[in-house]
Amino acid sequence: MEKYYWITTYGCQMNVHESEKIAGILRARGYKQGKSEEEADIVVFNTCCIRENAENHAYGNIGALKKLKKSRPSMLIAVGGCMTQQAGAAEKLRKKFPFVDIVFGTHNLPVLGELIDKKLAGKKAVVDVWEKEGEADTEDISYRTSYPNAWVNIMYGCNNFCSYCIVPYVRGRERSRESGAIVKEVNALLDQGYKEITLLGQNVNSYGNDREDCTFWQLLNKICERKEKFRLRFMTSNPKDFGEDLVRTIADNEQICHLVHLPVQAGSDRILKLMNRKYTAKEYLEKVEMLRKYVPDCQLTTDIMVGFPTETEEDFQATLSLVKEARFSTAFTFVYSRRSGTVAAGMDGQIPEEVQKDRIMRLVELVNAQTRELSAAYRGKTIEVLCEDYDAKRGLYLGRDEYGRMGYFKSETNKVGDFVKLKVSGTSGVSLDCELCEDTKE
Ligand code: 5AD
Ligand code: SF4
Repeated sequence: MEKYYWITTYGCQMNVHESEKIAGILRARGYKQGKSEEEADIVVFNTCCIRENAENHAYGNIGALKKLKKSRPSMLIAVGGCMTQQAGAAEKLRKKFPFVDIVFGTHNLPVLGELIDKKLAGKKAVVDVWEKEGEADTEDISYRTSYPNAWVNIMYGCNNFCSYCIVPYVRGRERSRESGAIVKEVNALLDQGYKEITLLGQNVNSYGNDREDCTFWQLLNKICERKEKFRLRFMTSNPKDFGEDLVRTIADNEQICHLVHLPVQAGSDRILKLMNRKYTAKEYLEKVEMLRKYVPDCQLTTDIMVGFPTETEEDFQATLSLVKEARFSTAFTFVYSRRSGTVAAGMDGQIPEEVQKDRIMRLVELVNAQTRELSAAYRGKTIEVLCEDYDAKRGLYLGRDEYGRMGYFKSETNKVGDFVKLKVSGTSGVSLDCELCEDTKE
């Protein structure tokens, strides 16, 4: 009889890729992708705890499964990811949702298969969350779902302890994968026909600090020794460690996309200090300038937070100024969320919700205006995108250019996985309306 799985993912790209690993483990145990939770024999929640709303979302969805579990007790429910890795979270989860069968953490994701076997062999729920970090090399178990892009972890964990952030507590200290294993994996993916590789780490610039064999920019050079056409991306860079060696490497290798994600978080030096970010706004802007000196067409995206404890209107204005000065092509904007156990959670001067809301709205307005302005400049231009999907609702194919801008176009033949040239005819919000150029039609 066929067995089906269903995975719900919350949070960042790191989690999206970890769900590919979970899918790999489930498939190795004979499960196939189901069409919904209703028909699944196992439902896995891959949770995130970086902000309270991600956590609430997961809690809500797990709770909503109670009825289904009652009508089909043989269905397994497993909860993993960052949320379970917090101190006391596994117990809290079991208490709130006694119908959950398996609780696992980020550190022991690779042994999920064994936890499923254990649960199937007995009646009791299996709760196994390791406090200690697991092995760094667990990549080849992935069942990839994002062709023509492939995610590749180069490191796990974070040593930075930004004062607001829970990541170092739930993902442990930095562990870099061996460079040879990464290069081998990237080459295997390119052999299989993947056209874009995105290297993942919480702070890719400190790749290799915990081992002798190579630094991040050296790793990029090693990957780029493969000369065929492909795109190489990476995220996330921490401004404090973003150096000239890396910028030169971006300039020297045509496979590396001219788009850098460099989270700034805030534009006020006082707030940056309280955040423990270890750079000033001026230092950040100097790095941006250096990047644009070596790679003049490079686009920049960022993460920005508003409403950090004690943030004044003046601090917030400094953030708005920095957004204008850095000319971000787009930004991921967040309202500060108090995470228990972090240094900032204990700070005085937490900002009222209505002030936070007002600031995020003003910030989003500015960011959107800048993004639209950049989109408008695309009109009439010819761009090259890597086609990644077909939007059945709109009857259009879609793909990103190297700067991350999405273009939509019509084609009679399937273009997914192809590099295609498009003429930009107009813009819809941040995306581009395009027409396929003659030389890429069939
Ligand atoms: N509240 C709001 N946003 C946060 N981030 C990290 N921790 C928090 C928090 N406690 C944001 C940061 C980071 C991005 C991944 O999430 O901007 O760069
Ligand atoms: Fe969190 Fe800072 Fe590490 Fe990013 S660098 S994961 S924001 S602690």
